[in-house]
Amino acid sequence: MKKPSLLCIGHRGAMGYAPENTLLSVQKALSLGVLCVEVDVYYVDKHLVIFHDDRLERTTDGEGDLTAYSFEYLRTLDAGEGQKIPTLDEICALIKSKACLNIELKGDKTAEPVAEYILERLDEGWDIESFLISSFHKDKLITIKRLIPNIKIGVLINGKPRGDSKFAEDLGAFSVHPSSGFVTKAFIDDAHNRCMRVFVYGVDDAAAVTKMYRLGADGVFTGFPKIVLAHYAQGEVNTRWCDR
Ligand code: G3P
Ligand code: MG
Repeated sequence: MKKPSLLCIGHRGAMGYAPENTLLSVQKALSLGVLCVEVDVYYVDKHLVIFHDDRLERTTDGEGDLTAYSFEYLRTLDAGEGQKIPTLDEICALIKSKACLNIELKGDKTAEPVAEYILERLDEGWDIESFLISSFHKDKLITIKRLIPNIKIGVLINGKPRGDSKFAEDLGAFSVHPSSGFVTKAFIDDAHNRCMRVFVYGVDDAAAVTKMYRLGADGVFTGFPKIVLAHYAQGEVNTRWCDR
């Protein structure tokens, strides 16, 4: 029997099985057959690094503000199981042509260097469909769109959506990314009527996956990709799931 379709987006790689936002975590997601991987990006000491928090304590053996340190020092830290904090370049080298990369922009002044980095990859022949850029911060998405007008952007929504998704449509978004605790069928239907995909984050158990599928979500962010891949088909890496 044909499986129904629900895109599995590996959250911080596959953070349920390996230290989040590390090469090991992304490798784990890829080895499971995940076709889209999400990582968080900060710009620190003129380097694009893959990291979620603005402080070091939770996920490394360091302490203090992420942006207070040199890149060289950050690379000495253990990000879990002996992994280093990776760079965006290392993640891209690992992922290239095996999956789409969802880059979530965190921290100050991240959009410009990410755009510059992507433009370099596009000049090298990378497929623009391989990238989806998301953020909770509207200003970062506006900047990315200004610098790369045809890049796909996803608008993250923190907590309960305020009304419909017109604000995301107005930004030229490809997708909206609400959280599982607050998304409703009405919100998803409205986004679909505006020709946007809906990818829901915070979906880390089988019951939540089923619920999001029934509500009509197009994809889910999960740290546990096996719970999605076991029951749902994945589209083509590039244009099929991205066609708009
Ligand atoms: O992009 C989906 C999800 O990663 C957003 O929240 O805090 O895990 O980056 P957070
Ligand atoms: Mg994220």
